Amino acid sequence: MNYLFKVRVGMEKFVINGGRKLKGSVKVDSAKNAVLPMIAAAILTEEETVIKNCPPIGDVVKMTEILRSCGAKTAFCDGNLIINAKDISINSVSEKLCGSLRTSVLMLGALAGRTGGAAVYRPGGCNIGKRPVDIHLYALKTLGSSVYDESDRIICCGKPSGGDVYLDFPSVGATENALLASVTAKGVSRIFNPAKEPEIEDFVGFLNAMGAKVYGAGSSCIRVEGVKRLHGAEYTPIGDRIEAGTYLIASAITGGEIAVEGVNAENISSLTGKLCDNSCQISVGNGIIYQKSIRGRKAFDAETGPYPSFPTDLQAQITSLAAVSEGTSVIRENVFETRFGHVAELVKMGADITVDGRTETVRGVKKLHGAVVSAKDLRCGAAMVIAGLAAEGQTIVLGAHHVERGYYDVHKKLAGLGADIRGV
Ligand code: UD1
Repeated sequence: MNYLFKVRVGMEKFVINGGRKLKGSVKVDSAKNAVLPMIAAAILTEEETVIKNCPPIGDVVKMTEILRSCGAKTAFCDGNLIINAKDISINSVSEKLCGSLRTSVLMLGALAGRTGGAAVYRPGGCNIGKRPVDIHLYALKTLGSSVYDESDRIICCGKPSGGDVYLDFPSVGATENALLASVTAKGVSRIFNPAKEPEIEDFVGFLNAMGAKVYGAGSSCIRVEGVKRLHGAEYTPIGDRIEAGTYLIASAITGGEIAVEGVNAENISSLTGKLCDNSCQISVGNGIIYQKSIRGRKAFDAETGPYPSFPTDLQAQITSLAAVSEGTSVIRENVFETRFGHVAELVKMGADITVDGRTETVRGVKKLHGAVVSAKDLRCGAAMVIAGLAAEGQTIVLGAHHVERGYYDVHKKLAGLGADIRGV
């Protein structure tokens, strides 16, 4: 295998001429939030792992850069990501790489599991709240590693031996770090109150395909029987429910009718329920979600929370829909305390939204108008693209690289559904 790495040139902005109804079908890629911990886990084996249907979105590329900085080889080939971590010579990650995305913190559990030690800097990622790592560090300590939390650096010493971990909050990342640290630990571990997101279940599917013994993902206790070593695996992750949800909302806001392929509809039933309340008819058949706009858009309420509650990663996008839905919608963000970067941008387009604490009150307006707006973070960017599709006139969404962190060729997929959008 030739581990050549294709460099992708990022875009600066999206230019959207709004007003076209979406129509047609679109297929989603592998779930970003399942793929990212899988890339970290690939370091736990000396054999080759293949993550199938894995597009080189920004966050995935960054995570492969982190692995390569530790000595692994990675390549994107025919839509798959191939990783070979036979030679891991470095068990620390630079400040720059750690600062580039949140999941860099997963290298603590992964490197400690592989080498018995790890050093990372504080992770970066979307600016949507304080995002401490205390639960991650508690989990690693409880699993038997010594953890030194310095002002900017975190050091983990000693191979995890296993233990019982009680998470105060079902943190997605902390659950993943605990899994990474425990799958090759000597003893048995139990993770109580773990995250139950479908991506966690899928991540466990990947670990088990590598020879791990993990039981109970999706329930309130995950049991891990440590194994001596993991082996290579070839794995197809689940489809991205947030990407799917983004297209469904985009179609609803334009009064469109689309089919979304590649995602389990059950995984986004909290969204499809809201779309039905708003304006749509939703049906599912042969693994495809069919959305049809059947009436005028009406206000709705939504409240985010850990799965199976409404996903925080669709909160910004659904705010765009509420902005042009008749009546007053109340949207509460319970996961990230300051995830409201999209509000000021939507107001520039004529939306009527106020934020009080963690609650948005969205008074629906008849039309948004085109404007120059910024993608302040990944999902804020998606929300601005959605708003631009419905707005009168031209919208320019700056900071397209934020959107590219989580969506591959979003402008091409939307153009394929009839939108007038181009990436520059
Ligand atoms: C993951 C997802 C992200 C999603 C989020 C919530 C990935 C790569 N990212 O992020 O897209 O929005 O889940 O579904 O999978 N917290 C602490 N201490 C900790 C860890 C978390 O206080 O040690 C808090 C966070 O600040 C936040 C909440 O818990 O308020 C949820 O965070 P968490 O579930 O850990 O999200 P991430 O893993 O960062």
